[in-house]
Amino acid sequence: MSRLVVVTNRVPSADELTHLEQGSVAVGGLVSAVKSMMLRQRGLWLGWSGRGTSRGRPGAPGATFSHGPVDLATIDLSEDELNLYYTGFANRTLWPLLHCFLERVSIRRESYRAYQRINRRFAETLFPLLKPDDAVWVHDYQLFLVGHFLRQAGWKGKLGYFLHVPFPPTEAFDILPWGPEILQGLLQYDLVGLHTESYRRNLVNALAAETDGAWDGRNFTYDGRTSRIGVYPIGIEPDEFREPARLSVPSLSDVLSLPPDPDNKIIVGVDRLDYTKGIPLRLRALDRMLERRPSMRGKVTFVQISAPSRTRVPEYVKEREDVEMLVGQINGKFSEMGWAPIRYLYRYFPQRDLARFYHDADVGMVTPLRDGMNLIAKEFVAAQGDDPGVLLLSRFSGAAVEMGDAVVVNPYDIDGTSEALYMALQMPKPERVERWRSMMDVVVSNSSSHWGESFYGDLERGTEGISG
Ligand code: G6P
Repeated sequence: MSRLVVVTNRVPSADELTHLEQGSVAVGGLVSAVKSMMLRQRGLWLGWSGRGTSRGRPGAPGATFSHGPVDLATIDLSEDELNLYYTGFANRTLWPLLHCFLERVSIRRESYRAYQRINRRFAETLFPLLKPDDAVWVHDYQLFLVGHFLRQAGWKGKLGYFLHVPFPPTEAFDILPWGPEILQGLLQYDLVGLHTESYRRNLVNALAAETDGAWDGRNFTYDGRTSRIGVYPIGIEPDEFREPARLSVPSLSDVLSLPPDPDNKIIVGVDRLDYTKGIPLRLRALDRMLERRPSMRGKVTFVQISAPSRTRVPEYVKEREDVEMLVGQINGKFSEMGWAPIRYLYRYFPQRDLARFYHDADVGMVTPLRDGMNLIAKEFVAAQGDDPGVLLLSRFSGAAVEMGDAVVVNPYDIDGTSEALYMALQMPKPERVERWRSMMDVVVSNSSSHWGESFYGDLERGTEGISG
């Protein structure tokens, strides 16, 4: 087997890795999936250290360290570079574009130039560390062009790429003046992975519109190179959310000092605070339910946990203000002595606390407006026990493709979502158990190890030997 070399925008520090193994921090889906895969085998992991260096000290190869079987190498970025590459092009251009929030897309040449420079720096830092038999696996939208620059530096070995977010329809992707370069860059990879069939279709359509390459249903061939384009839905490690992981932490009712009342139902929402997650519409659906179903007042507590995210990006600052204003309005409208409909927590929680919260909830609301996969949905399912809660899941998440036994909703339809929420709160146990079992089968079989192994296995075999 080749040594696996993973490249992600950010790598955890040595401390974070230790906490990750103990479940005492929570990180985004990408890092947690890559971490499970990396800690099981020998490999090299390269990424930004997560810190901005001071002005005047431009980004340069940073520290290297080892953690168990993994060697980690970091790249430092200056504050200016971060503003243009990460905050600017990655998070104000590509993120809204790929999630189809087209009116939010910012087009700035300066940001794209920084994105090219930083992607080149990733490639040029990595190239001297590579051995000919390595399999290089680049991740996500921050690093589309790393493959292109690695090939330019002379890398002839195995090269794969996985996009953790949606790939949008051609009409949306066309907005990007540098779309053609990004698509050409993607064709430098031997294997490109996406979460769902529809993202793959969109990418193939964009490639076909851009080049006169040929698609045979599995491989895209253009200019003498063949890239396999495959579907690999990412998962979680379900055991990290099962009982032993939860035992040591206090219940949600204790954390929130909720009065012990078996009739009081708990709904939970857990998200990075991001406008793609649909938190305001979710709150409006709750508001609508409390208006239409007065019997639910005093009987239900909605707990929204929002993890701070990308706090330098203006759209995220605005989203936080909008969410907090709505929470205040709804609580102001319905609260009674001893009861408020919403408990709002703007902070990070360790993974094992979240596992306990999911377990204690009667309903998990995962209602993004657009989401590549959404691993919270899978975590919620994995954490349930004998008396499982109900998952309310947006049809616009990649997870909905696999988890048709959730209560699937259109989050833009506030009336429909509020009725679905009411129904979920009344759902009898046999139906809850039946739906949960079938979702749990998916979560167990499509774990993050399975995801990592199938992609890595296909990359190892090369375009000729791929079976999936
Ligand atoms: C999403 C992206 C990841 C990213 C994560 C956290 O899941 O697909 O690439 O790492 O969000 O975002 P951040 O900007 O904090 O790295």
